[in-house]
Amino acid sequence: MAPQLAHALPQTWQAPSESAIRDELEAGLMAPQAAVSPKYLYDALGSKLFEAICELPEYYPTRTEAGIFETHAASIAATVGQGVTLIDLGAGNCAKAARLFPLLQPRQYVPVDISADFLHDAVANLRQKFPDIAIDAIAQDFSSTLNLPATVSRERRLFFYPGSSLGNFDPDQALQFLRRMRQALQLGEAGGVLLGLDLVKPSAVLDAAYDDALGVTAAFNLNLLNHVNRLLGADFNARHWQHLGFYNVAGQRVEMHLEARHDVLVRWDGGHRMFRQGERIHTENSHKFSPEGIVDLLQRAGFGDCRMWFDPQRWFAVCHARAR
Ligand code: AVJ
Repeated sequence: MAPQLAHALPQTWQAPSESAIRDELEAGLMAPQAAVSPKYLYDALGSKLFEAICELPEYYPTRTEAGIFETHAASIAATVGQGVTLIDLGAGNCAKAARLFPLLQPRQYVPVDISADFLHDAVANLRQKFPDIAIDAIAQDFSSTLNLPATVSRERRLFFYPGSSLGNFDPDQALQFLRRMRQALQLGEAGGVLLGLDLVKPSAVLDAAYDDALGVTAAFNLNLLNHVNRLLGADFNARHWQHLGFYNVAGQRVEMHLEARHDVLVRWDGGHRMFRQGERIHTENSHKFSPEGIVDLLQRAGFGDCRMWFDPQRWFAVCHARAR
C-alpha cells in the first residue's frame, strides 16, 4: 500500500470495463485480417519477457538509448534546462526517468502509467531517494486522452517518451498524440518533449532484433495468446502458433504476427473462429524513423527548435523539441 498515491489518482479515470476489453478483442479476432493490440503483450509474464528482451544481444534499442543519454548527458541537460516538470509517459518502474534526476533536477516528477500497481512501489521508493522532488503519480491510459490533473504544474513541462514507444502508433496516430502533448504545453522555453526514437537501418539488424536466436521474442509474442485466453475465456494453444517478426521495408516498420501452424478452431465465451494454416493474427507494428522524418513530424505537431543526439552507428535518436 502506498497511501500517498491515492490522492493523485484522477477521479475521472476508469479502467476499461471487462466487457469493453472483450468487445475489442473479439472484434479484432473476427476481422478478416485478425489483429490484437500490442498492449495485450504486457501481462505480468509479458512485462518480464520484455525485460528479458532488453538483455538480448540482438535487441539493441534499450542499451543504445541508455548509451546516448550517458554519452551526451551534459549536452542534453543544457538543452532541456533544470527545474522542469518531468511528465513520464508509460513510466513503468520509473527507472529510465530516475537516471535523469541528477542531470535535470526536476522540480516535479509525474509518472503516468496504465498499470497503477506497478507505479505504487516505484513511487514509494523514489520519494525516499529524492525527497526534494515532488512526485505525483497518475494511473491513466494516456493513449486516448491526456487529461492532467491540477496537481501537475503548468510550468516548464517536459514530456518524456523514451524507448521508441511512439513507434507503436501508426504515423497518423503518432501525429495526433504529439499534438495532444503540444496542447498541454506553454510556448517556447516553457515546454518541450524528450523522445527516444528507433531509426531506419538494414533489414537484417531489425529482423534479428525482433526474431532472436533464443526465442525470447517468440515467447513474448506467443504469451499474448495466454493473456487473451484469460481475458476472453478463449482456448488458444500457443503450440499451434508460430512467431513472425520482420522488417517491412515499404511500411518502414517491424511487424509481429502469430501464424497458425495448421488449421485451428479457436473458441471463446460467445464466439469462435476457424484459422486456416498460414493465417495470421497481427500483434504489433514498431515504426522506424529517419532524422528528417522526425523533424517533419514534430513540426507538423507544433514543435520547433529540434535537437537530436545519436549513437555512433546512428541506430537510435534521442530528440528534444520546444513548443512553438
Ligand atoms: C516497447 C514497443 C518499443 O517495438 O521495440 C520488443 C516492443 N516488441 N520486441 C519495440 C517490442 C518486440 C518494443 N516497444
